[in-house]
Amino acid sequence: MARDILKTLKAEHDELKQLFSELNETTDRGVKTRENLLQKIEAALMPHAKWEEKVFYPAFKERADRDGLKTHAEALAEHHAVENSVIPEVHAADPGTPEFAGRTKVFGEFITHHAKEEENTMFKMARELFSAEERAQLDEEYEEWKQSDAAMALIAGEKAKAGMKGAVKSMTQ
Ligand SMILES: [Fe+2]
Ligand SMILES: [Fe+2]
Repeated sequence: MARDILKTLKAEHDELKQLFSELNETTDRGVKTRENLLQKIEAALMPHAKWEEKVFYPAFKERADRDGLKTHAEALAEHHAVENSVIPEVHAADPGTPEFAGRTKVFGEFITHHAKEEENTMFKMARELFSAEERAQLDEEYEEWKQSDAAMALIAGEKAKAGMKGAVKSMTQ
């Protein structure tokens, strides 16, 4: 089967949804499990979201019509809401509490909603805007990028930012 960036991104969405459903089933006493699952979620989400923002969204935007531009703006606004509000709230909660359970539930709902929108609108449009060869090429580039030092540095920076924003949130809540 030919490589296709849209299939890879969709598979990552599915993986994230699975991790969130596992996280939803944990109890307040399952602190280790919660920490573990949150770590897995962030390890899967951060490269995905950052590469979309840096490569895929701009490439899509360049070819998009008016509807596409709206979809692009919507997707980006959702990324920002997750990065600036949803994730910091999760980090501001103690994993052994109902607050953590509630906030990670919202986190999962945001991601599920966003993934569905991407798949049903943006990816659908992208299938028309990018040839099979281009989609295969993007898929290879994404795989290489994920293993690069630049990506690792970016992810480490994002993690530090999430932790800091969480610390600020916990002081103000
Ligand atoms: Fe996205
Ligand atoms: Fe995505």
